[in-house]
Amino acid sequence: MEKVVVLDSGGQYCHLIARKIRELGVYAEIRPVGTKASRLAAYRGVVISGGPASVFEPGSPQPDPALFRLPIPILGICYGQQLMAQHLGGKVEPGHTREFGEASITVKSRRSIFAGLAERERVWMSHGDYVSQMPPGFRLMATTRDCVVAAMGDESRRFYAVQFHPEVAHTVHGQKILSNFLFGVGGCKPEWRPADRVAQVEAAIRRQVRDRQARERKVLFFLSGGVDSTVAFTLAVRALGPDRVHAIYVNTGFMRQGETKEISEVFEHLGLGSLEVVDERKRFFAALRGVTDPETKRKIIGRLFVDVQDHILARRRYSTKEWMLGQGTIYPDTIESGGTQHAEVIKTHHNRVDRIRQLIAEKRVLEPLSQFYKDEVRRLGHALGLPDSVLRRHPFPGPGLAIRCLCAEKKLYPEPDEGIATLAAQAGYQAFLLPLHSVGVQGDMRTYGKLTVLHGAEIHHEVLAELTTRITNSFPHTNRVAVALWPCEIDLAQWHIRRATLTPQRIHLLQEVDHIVTRFLHEQFLYDLIWQCPVVLLPLSRNGGETVALRPISSVDGMTAEVVHIPVPQLAQLAHELAQVDGIDGVLFDISNKPPSTIEWE
Ligand code: XMP
Repeated sequence: MEKVVVLDSGGQYCHLIARKIRELGVYAEIRPVGTKASRLAAYRGVVISGGPASVFEPGSPQPDPALFRLPIPILGICYGQQLMAQHLGGKVEPGHTREFGEASITVKSRRSIFAGLAERERVWMSHGDYVSQMPPGFRLMATTRDCVVAAMGDESRRFYAVQFHPEVAHTVHGQKILSNFLFGVGGCKPEWRPADRVAQVEAAIRRQVRDRQARERKVLFFLSGGVDSTVAFTLAVRALGPDRVHAIYVNTGFMRQGETKEISEVFEHLGLGSLEVVDERKRFFAALRGVTDPETKRKIIGRLFVDVQDHILARRRYSTKEWMLGQGTIYPDTIESGGTQHAEVIKTHHNRVDRIRQLIAEKRVLEPLSQFYKDEVRRLGHALGLPDSVLRRHPFPGPGLAIRCLCAEKKLYPEPDEGIATLAAQAGYQAFLLPLHSVGVQGDMRTYGKLTVLHGAEIHHEVLAELTTRITNSFPHTNRVAVALWPCEIDLAQWHIRRATLTPQRIHLLQEVDHIVTRFLHEQFLYDLIWQCPVVLLPLSRNGGETVALRPISSVDGMTAEVVHIPVPQLAQLAHELAQVDGIDGVLFDISNKPPSTIEWE
């Protein structure tokens, strides 16, 4: 099978590049940027990813210089372009400001990787340093106002480099650029189809369950009922037979309303055997009592999953020699936690806490889907005959509602912000800041920023989209923007953030509002138009209650996401329903894309 390699310079977009390439029908693999050139000779093309480092930093990720003597086409992206300039005799200079966000490029050469493009193209930039002088042999292929060398190429050697990110959706013709590189420049054929991989994945499972002494181990899956773990489990059952694969579902207390029952029923219906349900709600709540920091919450939950698993293994005398742990981990789960060699940790994924990493190092974890992306997992599931009702389910994070229930250590007040308020006023809105931090991702780094709340005017999606981008680009202390649906106008004097921790009562309230939202999305035929819709509870209070925030997004794989513009009358109807719930004081609509805001708030 023809393969392309993406050399990982640590960018969180590294796997996104690989996925975009696979979407075009060519298998892409990730390797560390420093991989020896001799091991890259068999690939049909090389892409060098972007990354958070600067080529000027000592110890910054570097490729093997012999890479540039291989007769294969190379595409450098962002930091990858700077590496190419540095290695091939050009010049890179540190930027004084970071260019971040959408930009317009002027295409100078509309051939090779830019064949079929217009003279002006919208792209996504995210960089500090820039190429100030091209290496010998390179020609300028595109420019922007702020960044002189937006793209360059040496057609005789088939070396190309772009300063912007063709892999993100904001680069309107990014996929065309990648396709030009693969098929036009590299001569690849579109032959990769995930659904054809079932037999190989099953063979890999049979191989991996054999230990060093060639003894066949059994696999214990802790299932969440989501698409990934269901597909992974089904593959394992097919590969090993039902007697060697066991499924346990841990009720952490952070599941959605009615979910535990629903998942058990789905299992029975699928003929996958009966799902054993273990109730660990008390233990999870006890471990999280009083914890308010988001990353600490994630780490505790991740560790607890392993403790519970260990406990179950020990109680049943499942010997670690005979059993291994099965997980539905997919590719992106491993990246945003810093799973690739140089990547910054954005969030600690529950499948990648230290204990699990240790088990992985000991080869005691089976992750049949760790090389697949979400859309590919759905296609695999389809090939396995799993029903649409399972495959269409919105993704739900392992730590569940615990990371959608925001906590606060002490009482806090909304903060006026003159700069943001002035910008918002130009678009007809009022604005203030909430000192409630949520996670964002900007320029490959994790950010903790305050929330901007807009209010006082009707929802105009287009106006709000533009305003949000301007706010998050101009004011780095905020990384997320939400607009008030109810009440439409907020009297700051009446509102405060109250001290709040994770309690069964708060989770119960979140389950109730989450259930209303999910039902509404189904009833209004919106469910399938939305990739995921986190419903978040904030301790923002007027009458002693809470505020609920809605985050419907569209995405392909969760790496980038865009807000879904639910029609205003439907939004109003949903807000009205939520406003009837006892204990709900306000309803917000999160209008931030990813980047700069991650999908989950924590
Ligand atoms: P973020 O919030 O990083 O989320 O933009 C990207 C996607 O990953 C999901 N997510 C998780 N899934 N365990 C999971 O199984 C986790 O710890 C976790 N954290 C985030 C999130 O729901 C979104 O689909």
